[in-house]
Amino acid sequence: MFLRNYWYVGAYAAEIGEQPLARTILGEPVLFYRTSDGRAVALEDRCCHRNLPLSMGAREGDGIRCGYHGLKFDSTGRCIEIPGQAQIPPDAKVRTYPVIERWNFIWLWMGDPAERDESLLPEWQCIDDPKLTTTMGNGCQALPMKCNWQLNNDNLLDLIHVVYVHPGTLGGAGLDNNPVTTKRLGKGVHMMRWSAHVEPVPLLAKLAGFNGALSDRWQATLCELPSHCTIDAGFSAPDAVGRDGDRDQGVRLRALITATPETDTTSFMFYAQCRNFALGNEEVSKRFIQQIRAIFDQDIGVMEGQQRINSMLPNAPTIEIRCDVPVVAMRRLVMEAAARERGEPIAARATAPRPIEAGRVAG
Ligand code: FES
Ligand SMILES: [Fe+2]
Repeated sequence: MFLRNYWYVGAYAAEIGEQPLARTILGEPVLFYRTSDGRAVALEDRCCHRNLPLSMGAREGDGIRCGYHGLKFDSTGRCIEIPGQAQIPPDAKVRTYPVIERWNFIWLWMGDPAERDESLLPEWQCIDDPKLTTTMGNGCQALPMKCNWQLNNDNLLDLIHVVYVHPGTLGGAGLDNNPVTTKRLGKGVHMMRWSAHVEPVPLLAKLAGFNGALSDRWQATLCELPSHCTIDAGFSAPDAVGRDGDRDQGVRLRALITATPETDTTSFMFYAQCRNFALGNEEVSKRFIQQIRAIFDQDIGVMEGQQRINSMLPNAPTIEIRCDVPVVAMRRLVMEAAARERGEPIAARATAPRPIEAGRVAG
């Protein structure tokens, strides 16, 4: 199940150049490239003659020539040349996707172009904030995951997992004694856990040079439809900032993470981190990028494990526990958005599936 009338990260901006890049997004073959003036375009990666992927053809000027019978398409997807034939049928065209290049990402609108709505982009301006240092994820290469995209929303709305999945880097004693507060917003869910007088985040403490044994920690995630997670995590010396204080007085990390569906059981993770410590320190950035990648490999191991079982045992019973509240709220929001796209009344979908159950690919 996919939501169509939303923006998805199709690629890091740095991935797109003159040569075509082919990627499956929401089960559709998409072809990216840049025109000679540097504009990123996204076309359906399928020749309308006999379905050869256009990415198997060749760039020619600002267009693409199909590698089978030589039809040439311009960057708007219109066929502009058919070898050996002067007349071009009006339906000789392929679909194009609206594209926005922003914050080092290529955003793709996968639904009806007439409904494209920039207000549905997440607010990731911190990537460009000169007061922060940003590191883009994974060397600006899409990170493939063999799991359904919603498992990534679940993972990031359930940050207690750091205690068990990332014990030496993001975990720490005492976190699991503190409950989360959950807010459901119009297009997303916000969760927050405040933990006073607990161990600082080991990785951040090391990189920021914090030596205290105790800290006040916060973990907050805003997850917005369909899959855009804005995480605000960090710590301060005990009682230095307070639950509602200015978190920039502490060691603060904004982690921006999204999962773009490839198929029902595979997806791509794209991410960036913006930090307010060790500003401009390239050595710290290098270590940080490596450590975060290793941490995300741990998450991906978990999510791919879940997917294997979800695919194998689609009807196995599962339970919910207290920390699932934001996860269930987001699952419900996704189901309601899907029902809206199908033109079904929301009331008919009032019951959200269990988090794990819904991770299976329900049609
Ligand atoms: S399949 Fe593309 S020109 Fe025939
Ligand atoms: Fe994690």
